[in-house]
Amino acid sequence: RQSSRLQDKNIIVTAGPTREKIDGVRFLSNYSSGKMGFAIACAAARRGADVTLITGPVSLPTPEGVRRIDIETACDMQREVQRIASGCDIFIGAAAVADYRPAETVTGKIKKTSETIALSLIRNPDILAGFSAEKKTHQLAVGFSLETENGLGYAAEKLRAKNLDLIAYNTYDGETSGFEVDTNALTLIDRQGTTTELPLLTKRDAAIRLLDAIESLLSRPDNG
Ligand code: C5P
Repeated sequence: RQSSRLQDKNIIVTAGPTREKIDGVRFLSNYSSGKMGFAIACAAARRGADVTLITGPVSLPTPEGVRRIDIETACDMQREVQRIASGCDIFIGAAAVADYRPAETVTGKIKKTSETIALSLIRNPDILAGFSAEKKTHQLAVGFSLETENGLGYAAEKLRAKNLDLIAYNTYDGETSGFEVDTNALTLIDRQGTTTELPLLTKRDAAIRLLDAIESLLSRPDNG
Protein backbone atom coordinates (compact mmCIF):
# COMPACT_ATOMS: atom_id res chain seq x y z
CA ARG A 1 0.00 0.00 0.00
CA GLN A 2 1.11 3.51 -0.85
CA SER A 3 2.12 5.49 2.22
CA SER A 4 -0.51 7.91 3.48
CA ARG A 5 -0.21 11.33 5.08
CA LEU A 6 -2.51 9.97 7.76
CA GLN A 7 0.04 7.33 8.78
CA ASP A 8 0.60 7.60 12.55
CA LYS A 9 -1.66 10.65 12.84
CA ASN A 10 -3.75 10.66 15.98
CA ILE A 11 -7.39 11.02 14.93
CA ILE A 12 -10.53 11.39 17.04
CA VAL A 13 -13.82 10.58 15.33
CA THR A 14 -17.17 11.17 17.02
CA ALA A 15 -20.10 9.14 15.74
CA GLY A 16 -23.69 8.18 16.30
CA PRO A 17 -26.45 9.90 18.23
CA THR A 18 -26.37 11.00 21.83
CA ARG A 19 -29.08 10.14 24.34
CA GLU A 20 -30.27 12.81 26.73
CA LYS A 21 -31.98 11.38 29.79
CA ILE A 22 -35.51 12.49 30.68
CA ASP A 23 -35.84 10.04 33.56
CA GLY A 24 -34.46 6.65 34.53
CA VAL A 25 -36.12 4.86 31.58
CA ARG A 26 -36.52 7.53 28.85
CA PHE A 27 -34.35 9.72 26.68
CA LEU A 28 -34.32 12.20 23.77
CA SER A 29 -32.30 11.19 20.73
CA ASN A 30 -32.21 11.17 16.93
CA TYR A 31 -32.02 8.74 14.02
CA SER A 32 -28.25 8.72 13.57
CA SER A 33 -26.97 5.20 12.88
CA GLY A 34 -23.27 5.97 13.30
CA LYS A 35 -22.51 4.53 9.85
CA MET A 36 -20.71 7.60 8.49
CA GLY A 37 -18.46 8.03 11.54
CA PHE A 38 -17.66 4.32 11.68
CA ALA A 39 -16.79 4.32 7.96
CA ILE A 40 -14.41 7.25 8.53
CA ALA A 41 -12.76 5.56 11.52
CA CYS A 42 -12.34 2.35 9.52
CA ALA A 43 -10.85 4.10 6.47
CA ALA A 44 -8.47 6.17 8.64
CA ALA A 45 -7.21 3.06 10.49
CA ARG A 46 -6.53 1.42 7.12
CA ARG A 47 -4.30 4.37 6.27
CA GLY A 48 -2.26 3.73 9.38
CA ALA A 49 -3.77 6.40 11.62
CA ASP A 50 -4.13 5.93 15.35
CA VAL A 51 -7.92 6.24 15.63
CA THR A 52 -10.14 6.76 18.67
CA LEU A 53 -13.84 6.47 17.91
CA ILE A 54 -16.10 8.07 20.51
CA THR A 55 -19.61 6.89 19.83
CA GLY A 56 -23.13 7.10 21.10
CA PRO A 57 -25.34 4.00 21.22
CA VAL A 58 -25.31 2.29 17.80
CA SER A 59 -25.47 -1.31 16.63
CA LEU A 60 -22.29 -1.49 14.58
CA PRO A 61 -19.16 -3.60 15.04
CA THR A 62 -15.95 -1.82 15.99
CA PRO A 63 -13.75 -1.39 12.88
CA GLU A 64 -10.49 -3.31 12.99
CA GLY A 65 -7.61 -1.48 14.62
CA VAL A 66 -9.83 1.26 16.07
CA ARG A 67 -9.98 2.20 19.77
CA ARG A 68 -13.63 2.62 20.72
CA ILE A 69 -15.13 4.59 23.59
CA ASP A 70 -18.88 4.21 24.16
CA ILE A 71 -20.78 7.13 25.64
CA GLU A 72 -24.39 8.05 26.07
CA THR A 73 -24.88 11.80 26.54
CA ALA A 74 -23.40 14.88 24.84
CA CYS A 75 -21.75 15.83 28.12
CA ASP A 76 -20.13 12.35 28.33
CA MET A 77 -18.91 12.72 24.76
CA GLN A 78 -17.42 16.13 25.50
CA ARG A 79 -15.64 14.79 28.60
CA GLU A 80 -14.04 11.96 26.61
CA VAL A 81 -12.99 14.32 23.81
CA GLN A 82 -11.46 16.79 26.28
CA ARG A 83 -9.51 13.99 27.97
CA ILE A 84 -7.58 13.18 24.77
CA ALA A 85 -7.94 16.28 22.57
CA SER A 86 -4.52 17.77 23.26
CA GLY A 87 -2.80 14.69 21.82
CA CYS A 88 -4.82 14.56 18.64
CA ASP A 89 -3.86 15.81 15.18
CA ILE A 90 -7.29 15.67 13.57
CA PHE A 91 -10.74 15.86 15.11
CA ILE A 92 -13.60 14.69 12.91
CA GLY A 93 -17.06 15.41 14.32
CA ALA A 94 -19.45 13.01 12.63
CA ALA A 95 -21.72 12.55 15.63
CA ALA A 96 -25.29 13.82 15.62
CA VAL A 97 -24.96 15.44 19.02
CA ALA A 98 -28.30 16.41 20.57
CA ASP A 99 -28.54 20.20 20.62
CA TYR A 100 -30.51 20.20 23.88
CA ARG A 101 -30.87 18.05 26.98
CA PRO A 102 -33.59 17.98 29.63
CA ALA A 103 -32.84 20.64 32.22
CA GLU A 104 -33.18 17.98 34.89
CA THR A 105 -33.19 14.19 34.81
CA VAL A 106 -35.93 12.79 37.02
CA THR A 107 -34.87 9.89 39.23
CA GLY A 108 -37.01 6.83 38.59
CA LYS A 109 -39.94 7.05 36.17
CA ILE A 110 -42.17 10.04 35.51
CA LYS A 111 -45.78 8.98 36.24
CA LYS A 112 -48.61 9.85 33.92
CA THR A 113 -50.78 12.17 35.91
CA SER A 114 -51.82 15.37 34.13
CA GLU A 115 -52.96 15.56 30.48
CA THR A 116 -49.99 17.67 29.47
CA ILE A 117 -46.55 18.04 30.92
CA ALA A 118 -43.75 20.40 29.96
CA LEU A 119 -40.19 19.39 29.34
CA SER A 120 -37.65 22.11 29.86
CA LEU A 121 -34.50 21.82 27.73
CA ILE A 122 -31.09 23.45 27.93
CA ARG A 123 -28.39 23.79 25.27
CA ASN A 124 -25.70 21.15 25.12
CA PRO A 125 -22.06 22.18 24.73
CA ASP A 126 -20.81 22.25 21.13
CA ILE A 127 -18.06 19.63 21.23
CA LEU A 128 -16.56 20.42 17.84
CA ALA A 129 -16.55 24.19 18.40
CA GLY A 130 -15.00 23.57 21.83
CA PHE A 131 -12.17 21.62 20.23
CA SER A 132 -11.64 24.30 17.55
CA ALA A 133 -11.52 27.09 20.07
CA GLU A 134 -8.48 25.48 21.69
CA LYS A 135 -6.81 23.96 18.65
CA LYS A 136 -3.12 24.43 17.93
CA THR A 137 -1.87 25.28 14.45
CA HIS A 138 -0.97 21.67 13.64
CA GLN A 139 -4.45 20.42 14.59
CA LEU A 140 -7.29 20.13 12.10
CA ALA A 141 -10.99 20.31 12.89
CA VAL A 142 -13.46 18.70 10.50
CA GLY A 143 -17.23 18.86 10.84
CA PHE A 144 -20.44 17.75 9.21
CA SER A 145 -23.47 19.84 8.48
CA LEU A 146 -26.71 18.02 7.86
CA GLU A 147 -29.37 20.24 6.39
CA THR A 148 -32.70 19.76 4.70
CA GLU A 149 -32.64 22.97 2.66
CA ASN A 150 -30.29 25.77 1.58
CA GLY A 151 -27.59 23.71 3.18
CA LEU A 152 -24.53 24.97 1.40
CA GLY A 153 -24.91 28.47 2.84
CA TYR A 154 -25.43 27.16 6.37
CA ALA A 155 -22.47 24.79 6.02
CA ALA A 156 -20.15 27.60 4.88
CA GLU A 157 -21.34 29.71 7.80
CA LYS A 158 -20.65 26.84 10.24
CA LEU A 159 -17.17 26.37 8.82
CA ARG A 160 -16.46 29.97 9.73
CA ALA A 161 -18.35 30.14 13.04
CA LYS A 162 -16.78 26.94 14.39
CA ASN A 163 -13.31 27.76 13.00
CA LEU A 164 -13.12 24.53 10.99
CA ASP A 165 -10.58 23.44 8.39
CA LEU A 166 -13.11 21.41 6.44
CA ILE A 167 -16.85 20.83 6.53
CA ALA A 168 -18.89 18.16 4.81
CA TYR A 169 -22.31 19.45 3.89
CA ASN A 170 -24.59 16.47 4.08
CA THR A 171 -27.80 16.70 2.10
CA TYR A 172 -30.69 15.06 3.86
CA ASP A 173 -33.40 13.58 1.71
CA GLY A 174 -34.45 10.77 4.04
CA GLU A 175 -33.89 8.17 1.33
CA THR A 176 -30.45 8.06 -0.27
CA SER A 177 -28.67 10.59 1.87
CA GLY A 178 -28.62 11.33 5.57
CA PHE A 179 -29.39 9.08 8.53
CA GLU A 180 -29.50 5.27 8.63
CA VAL A 181 -28.94 4.62 4.90
CA ASP A 182 -25.70 3.24 3.43
CA THR A 183 -25.18 6.03 0.90
CA ASN A 184 -24.42 9.69 1.29
CA ALA A 185 -24.16 12.82 -0.86
CA LEU A 186 -21.51 15.16 0.53
CA THR A 187 -20.22 18.54 -0.59
CA LEU A 188 -16.84 19.37 0.91
CA ILE A 189 -15.91 22.97 1.69
CA ASP A 190 -12.43 23.76 2.95
CA ARG A 191 -11.26 26.82 4.85
CA GLN A 192 -10.12 28.48 1.62
CA GLY A 193 -13.67 28.14 0.34
CA THR A 194 -12.84 25.46 -2.22
CA THR A 195 -16.04 23.49 -2.76
CA THR A 196 -16.12 19.92 -4.05
CA GLU A 197 -19.45 18.30 -4.75
CA LEU A 198 -19.20 14.52 -4.45
CA PRO A 199 -21.67 12.24 -6.20
CA LEU A 200 -23.96 9.91 -4.26
CA LEU A 201 -21.54 7.36 -2.81
CA THR A 202 -21.55 4.53 -0.32
CA LYS A 203 -20.57 5.84 3.12
CA ARG A 204 -17.39 3.78 2.76
CA ASP A 205 -16.44 5.64 -0.44
CA ALA A 206 -17.60 8.99 0.95
CA ALA A 207 -15.26 8.40 3.91
CA ILE A 208 -12.37 7.69 1.52
CA ARG A 209 -13.01 10.95 -0.36
CA LEU A 210 -13.25 12.90 2.88
CA LEU A 211 -9.90 11.50 4.04
CA ASP A 212 -8.37 12.34 0.64
CA ALA A 213 -9.49 15.95 1.14
CA ILE A 214 -7.99 15.97 4.66
CA GLU A 215 -4.72 14.59 3.25
CA SER A 216 -4.57 17.40 0.73
CA LEU A 217 -5.06 19.95 3.54
CA LEU A 218 -2.13 18.30 5.34
CA SER A 219 0.03 18.67 2.25
CA ARG A 220 -0.27 22.47 2.32
CA PRO A 221 2.79 24.28 3.61
CA ASP A 222 0.99 25.68 6.68
CA ASN A 223 0.04 22.21 7.96
CA GLY A 224 1.39 18.88 8.80
O1 C5P B 1 -24.29 23.18 14.41
P1 C5P B 1 -24.48 21.80 13.91
O2 C5P B 1 -25.08 20.87 14.94
O3 C5P B 1 -25.20 21.69 12.60
O4 C5P B 1 -22.98 21.30 13.63
C1 C5P B 1 -22.73 20.02 13.19
C2 C5P B 1 -21.30 19.66 13.46
O5 C5P B 1 -20.93 20.02 14.80
C3 C5P B 1 -21.05 18.17 13.37
O6 C5P B 1 -19.71 17.98 12.98
C4 C5P B 1 -21.30 17.72 14.80
O7 C5P B 1 -20.65 16.49 15.09
C5 C5P B 1 -20.74 18.87 15.61
N1 C5P B 1 -21.44 19.13 16.87
C6 C5P B 1 -20.78 18.90 18.09
N2 C5P B 1 -21.42 19.19 19.27
C7 C5P B 1 -22.67 19.69 19.28
C8 C5P B 1 -23.35 19.93 18.06
C9 C5P B 1 -22.69 19.63 16.88
O8 C5P B 1 -19.63 18.44 18.08
N3 C5P B 1 -23.29 19.94 20.44
